[in-house]
Amino acid sequence: AKLDAIKKAGKLVMLTNAAFPPFEYMGNDNKPAGVDVEVAQAIAKDLGVELEIVNMDFDLLIESLKAGKGDLILAGMTIKPERLEQVDFSKEYVKSAQYVIIKSGSGVTADKLDGLTIAVQQDTTGDFYATDDIKAKEVLRFKSGIEAGSALSSGKCDAVIIDKLPAEKIAANSSGKLEVLPKALTEESYAIAVAKENKDLLEAVNASLDKLIADGTVDKLIVKHMEI
Ligand code: ARG
Repeated sequence: AKLDAIKKAGKLVMLTNAAFPPFEYMGNDNKPAGVDVEVAQAIAKDLGVELEIVNMDFDLLIESLKAGKGDLILAGMTIKPERLEQVDFSKEYVKSAQYVIIKSGSGVTADKLDGLTIAVQQDTTGDFYATDDIKAKEVLRFKSGIEAGSALSSGKCDAVIIDKLPAEKIAANSSGKLEVLPKALTEESYAIAVAKENKDLLEAVNASLDKLIADGTVDKLIVKHMEI
């Protein structure tokens, strides 16, 4: 919705895919939690409205935003030219990169991914890398990175390509079965997506982000949610 309509309704609707810790995941009370949830709460507070969260598959987020099912997407979403054709992005609030998760001791290296079976979360930059930048034998596309990690643990693939901190979380929860290779495959920036022609909302989002970045809130939230 437009900024004045959001204020009138008293409600800001965030679209996300809550299967991407530390940025968004289902908390203990079965409600979405994470860095992005708290960033969106801060934006809503600045606007003087309540935050509502709609959780869905990652590959449905952009079309849902375009269809007006929410006001913004916070989903650790990387700025990509293809996406910029469909939505507007705020300023970047987190820098990230794609990393490789392997089975501990398997000897797979980040320089020799050709000919391997790679698991990814569908429609993410990890998927784009596995599909376009290497000659994988096969790309297994899952609805979440966590499912891709399970496929790796159970021997259905040789590696997972996913964003850095989610990779670290998946490895940390694998009781030593999985490890993250030290090489960054890409350089990426996360930003908040809003519908095109919604300049007032975009400006308000950028103003909130300026504060949250400058006072260290974003960094603190990352540390907090990596520890959970
Ligand atoms: N940064 C990657 C991308 O934009 C992955 C984001 C996945 N986010 C999520 N909430 N599942 O494609």
